[in-house]
Amino acid sequence: MDDKLMLMIPGPTPVPEQVLLAMAKHPIGHRSGDFSKVMAEVTENLKWLHQTTGDVMMLTVSGTGAVEAAIVNVLSPGDRVLVGANGKFGERWAEVSQAYGLAVETITAAWGQPLDPEQFRATLEADTEKTIKAVIITHSETSTGVLNDLETINRHVKAHGEALIIVDAVTSLGAINLPIDQWGLDVVASGSQKGYMIPPGLGFVSVSARAWDAYKTAKLPRFYLDLGKYRKDAAKNTTPFTPPVNLIVGLQVALRMMQAEGLESIFARHQRMMQATRSAIKALNLPLFAPDVAASPAITSVAPLAPLDSEQIRSLLRKRFDIAMAGGQDHLKGKIFRIGHLGFVCDRDILAAIAALEATLLELEYGGFIPGSGVAAAAKVLTQSR
Ligand SMILES: Cc1ncc(COP(=O)(O)O)c(C=O)c1O
Repeated sequence: MDDKLMLMIPGPTPVPEQVLLAMAKHPIGHRSGDFSKVMAEVTENLKWLHQTTGDVMMLTVSGTGAVEAAIVNVLSPGDRVLVGANGKFGERWAEVSQAYGLAVETITAAWGQPLDPEQFRATLEADTEKTIKAVIITHSETSTGVLNDLETINRHVKAHGEALIIVDAVTSLGAINLPIDQWGLDVVASGSQKGYMIPPGLGFVSVSARAWDAYKTAKLPRFYLDLGKYRKDAAKNTTPFTPPVNLIVGLQVALRMMQAEGLESIFARHQRMMQATRSAIKALNLPLFAPDVAASPAITSVAPLAPLDSEQIRSLLRKRFDIAMAGGQDHLKGKIFRIGHLGFVCDRDILAAIAALEATLLELEYGGFIPGSGVAAAAKVLTQSR
């Protein structure tokens, strides 16, 4: 059946109908009074979502553009940066930093394992000359489904006293508690196609007072990504360049929906989705790629063993049920598949996805589970945590 695609990938994520309808109108002029009103509301509500009284800027970029904006606005050529790399995205921030001529040091962990905060503590403590200017951490590492212990790493950064912390919150913002002001996170970047429940096209960057101080002396080249321009214009409820007005109108509706649900409930819902999914995968006797202690509430990675083939599972899920799950990236291609449960996702989606996965496994003649056990395990978690 056509036109019944169910997205269970970690972005783009499903978009609520009321958001789609809001976006389906003619674009309004971005210098109009009507658009200024939308901007005023959205800017305020973004602060609520980001748990900050500081600035949250909207840029017409994807998540990568938002992180690049974070880097170029607070650093200068040759600055020493410490980058946490335990997956594709952490590695990308090391590459971006190198491209801009920063002195990059990585702290790594195997893909599928969390970063070790102790390694950050040791390196930061050893830096008595205070040469480390920034620490860049991917909170939810989407390529593996690992949630890094940002809170502890950030505590070590704060103890250092000089370094800023830059956070890739692309698959954590709006899904996982990230109290920007309370933790004192300096620059936090995210993207619209994830927890925000709208399509791709907008990047968000929050900036602390300390980071604005660094901005004043930062010398990396910037023009389109110059956050100062966005800050100045946001104060007048406008944007420096033509924004994707329809996306922002959609965001206005999505943020109202999030406010109605409440932050605590949103985070609890993502926890439940994760627990139900992981419980089902365990019941199906399929190996989980990320350990329980470092599992991302946004995404669950599964590493089926031979003769099962994750690409075959994904392609059958798509063919028979029109359910899209994500594959592995880079060296994990063909080795894992990833179930996104991020944004506009509810109990029904998890139950449907697990039931379809079971049917797929049966078609592939995988005899390692009792039919119905995955659905039963997910249903149990969902019922008990209601
Ligand atoms: C954690 C993380 N960081 C960065 C990105 C890059 O975002 P984009 O593809 O929107 O540039 C993604 C995309 O999935 C992501 O999950």
